Parts: sequence; structure tokens; C-alpha cells
Amino acid sequence: MLYHIATYGCQMNEYDSGVLATMMESEGCVATDDPSAADFILVNTCSVRQKAEDTALARISKFKPFKRANPNLKIVLAGCMAKNHGESLIQKMPLIDYVIGPDHYRKIPDILFGNPVHASRKNSAARTMVEFDSLEMYKDASAKLASPFSTYVAIQRGCNKHCSYCIVPHVRGPEKYREEAGVLREVREAAERGVREITLLGQTVNAYRSGDTSFAKLLEQVSLVPGIERIRFTSPHPRHYTPELIDVLLGNPKVCAHAHIPLQSGSNVMLKKMRRQHQIDDFLRITEKLRGANPLYGLTTDIICGFVGETESDFEQTLEVVREVQFDSAFMFIYSPREGTESAREPETLSEEEKKERHRRLVDLQNEITLARNRMMIGNTECILVERPSTRNPEEWVGKTGNFKKVIFRPAGSVSPGAWANIHIDDIRGWTLRGTPAEE
Ligand code: 5AD
Ligand code: SF4
Repeated sequence: MLYHIATYGCQMNEYDSGVLATMMESEGCVATDDPSAADFILVNTCSVRQKAEDTALARISKFKPFKRANPNLKIVLAGCMAKNHGESLIQKMPLIDYVIGPDHYRKIPDILFGNPVHASRKNSAARTMVEFDSLEMYKDASAKLASPFSTYVAIQRGCNKHCSYCIVPHVRGPEKYREEAGVLREVREAAERGVREITLLGQTVNAYRSGDTSFAKLLEQVSLVPGIERIRFTSPHPRHYTPELIDVLLGNPKVCAHAHIPLQSGSNVMLKKMRRQHQIDDFLRITEKLRGANPLYGLTTDIICGFVGETESDFEQTLEVVREVQFDSAFMFIYSPREGTESAREPETLSEEEKKERHRRLVDLQNEITLARNRMMIGNTECILVERPSTRNPEEWVGKTGNFKKVIFRPAGSVSPGAWANIHIDDIRGWTLRGTPAEE
């Protein structure tokens, strides 16, 4: 039997799709890239912005002919949209067989293979499982992910922050942490399979705690696992950058010199309204420490523009902070009101056109900064973790630096995914760094 997984949204969903893949394979199923050939299609969805939801539903509607051709095909809608809309999704799209929220993936094998109680469920309520389960941490998980040398490990699920615009706490529930032992077991097993780079995942990953183990201590423990040579994490919250954590970030050579720290806005008034629990000074204290120690420290961020009540002056303060920090790159979003969140109860104060115009100005500024930051890399020799041949030119390869920059290079001899390469950065083309093997 063949299964196909389509994944939308963040790295946590990519990881969860890996957990789903492991479950399907333990039932003897084989993955296919072709949904028309599949016996099971699992769509792992995102609700963070309206566009993500619209895209997933449009994709599912394309599966209709497959269902006509194969009446035994089962379609599972998993992830955040499952929790956000529940049973109504089946009513809206009867081709969806099951709606399964993020805390119920363990039931999927039982539902799809064999348990006649589940298989015979006719009504849509019985085919919907979305309640939160505070105990489900997938602590024994082993996620099957695409790369043989780099993988994600989830250490925290849910979020307690309740930023006023954000649907995540509503669809993922309150914060819960995976025990240190389970995390280290998954890291060790990955290392034994040849994984060299681990990315620890959580909605506010640096709030992690397990007994006496803080996030900083967990990073140290992961760095001791033989075979693990690079450690990344996403996404931290500015509030949880303790002095202990900064010491580990700057002192442990296996922890990469890159942080993705969501800024959201450069205006203190907006940050308060967003209930972000940090102000601009808090943010700048962190970035100044990291860049003070290493001017090439990679800093990336998330920014929302056009939030409810954002004035021209608030927006200009965002531009100002972006200029000051000099992010290497940024995900820049237009505010999308999410039903059920605090800020969606307030009427929007900007038109779509005004929001788009601010977004364009922000993107233009960030593009200039990205270019300038990438130029700073020219002349350096960087240790690259090799990923794959370039899609445009198979004689060239793609890899990443420790500070999270993509480099395209022409290897001197043979090279393979997961290898290390010392690359001299010669130039940039477009925004991308170009390099050649460094002289020994
Ligand atoms: N509108 C626009 N962007 C949002 N994000 C979260 N909620 C919204 C929303 N309602 C962005 C934030 C967050 C990232 C994952 O998505 O910037 O950090
Ligand atoms: Fe959403 Fe804020 Fe939690 Fe991030 S910290 S997931 S933006 S509520």
C-alpha cells in the first residue's frame, strides 16, 4: 500500500509529517510522491495565516478524481487546521475521511488499518479527533525526514504566550516539554544513522525545561552526542535569552552562529498590543551581544506588518530597527486576522492596499540589507555542510555555512550529501554566495 504526505506550514509540521511517515511505514506502507497512486493521502495543514488554509483546501479539492478512480483511497486532514475547524471540514469537503488534530497521530494506524470500529465510523463527528491531550509528546518518536544527515527533533509543543494575533496556542494548546532522556535518545539514534546536524524545535524553544535541565543545558548535552557536529534551534522567544544561554551560544562551537529571533514589530506600542512580552531594548540587548562577539553572527527574524492600529510612525520604527539590527534575512508577513484570536476582535485599521504597500517597503529594505550582509562573507573560507547538487547546474553543489547562508560551489573532486567542504567565498550572484574549494 502506498501513502503520500503533503506538508504545509512550519518545521514542526515537517517533523510531525516525519512522525506520520514512520507510523505508516511500521504498518508496511511505502511512500510515494505521486498522490494519484496513493492508497492513503495525509495532508498536514497550517492555520497561521488565511492563505495557508486556502492553499491546503485547494490542494485537497484536486484529489477528487483520485477518489473516484480509487474508492478505497482514504484522505486524512491532519495538523492545525484540523483543530481549528474540526468536523466542519468534512461537512465542507466530504472527500476528507478523517480530521485528526496534532495530539492524535498515534491513532492513525489504528484508524486506517484494521480496527473495524474506526473503519466503520460513518458520521463526521466520529471521524474527527481534535481534543488536546496534555500527555502526548511523541516521546518515543523517530521522525522519518528527507535528509539523511540533517534532522529536526521536537522538544516542546504548544505555546503559553498568547500573542494577540496568533492562532498557535488555540490549535496546538498549552506548552508542554519532552523529557530530556527522550530528546537525547532520538538525537543518539539519528547520529547512529549518520545525522550530523540537529535542529531542535519548539514554538518557544528556549523556554524549554525538563527537571533541572534548561534549554542551555540541553544544548550542551546534545553537543556531547558523538557524531553530532552542528546544532540549530527554532524558534526562540526574546524573553528567554538567559545569560546562561548566551554563554552557551557563544561558547559551544557545535552550536551554530545563527539565531532566528522573531521581532514582529519595531514599535513598543505595537509589541504591547501584540502581547509579545518583550520590548525593543530587550531584543537589541540580545542581538548586540551576539553580533558584538561575532559580526558575522547570522540573525534572521519574523516581522508582521499592517497589524491592527499600526500607524505610519509605528511602521517606520520597524524599518528603523531592521536597519539597526541588519538581519541576514527575514520572513515578512502581512497581518492576517485569525478568527478566535484577541486581535481579530478589533476591526482592522488599514486597507489591504496599505498593508501591501508597507510590506513592499519592508521587503525592499530587507533585500538591500541581505545583499550587504552576504557581501560581507566574500573573501572568507567557510566550512559548508554539503546538501545536494544544484538544480540549475548539476556540476555545482549547494550547502550551508554555520551562520545559515546558502553557498553554491563547484567541487574540486567528488563530493556527496552530508560531507564537509572548506569553501572560499569568491562572489555573490543575485543574493547567493558562490565559492570554490579553499586551498589546503
Ligand atoms: N498574521 C500574520 N503573520 C502571523 N504570524 C503569526 N500569526 C500571524 C498572523 N495572524 C507570523 C509571526 C510568526 C510567524 C510564524 O508567523 O511572524 O512569528
Ligand atoms: Fe504564536 Fe506568540 Fe506563541 Fe510564537 S510565541 S507561537 S507568535 S503565540
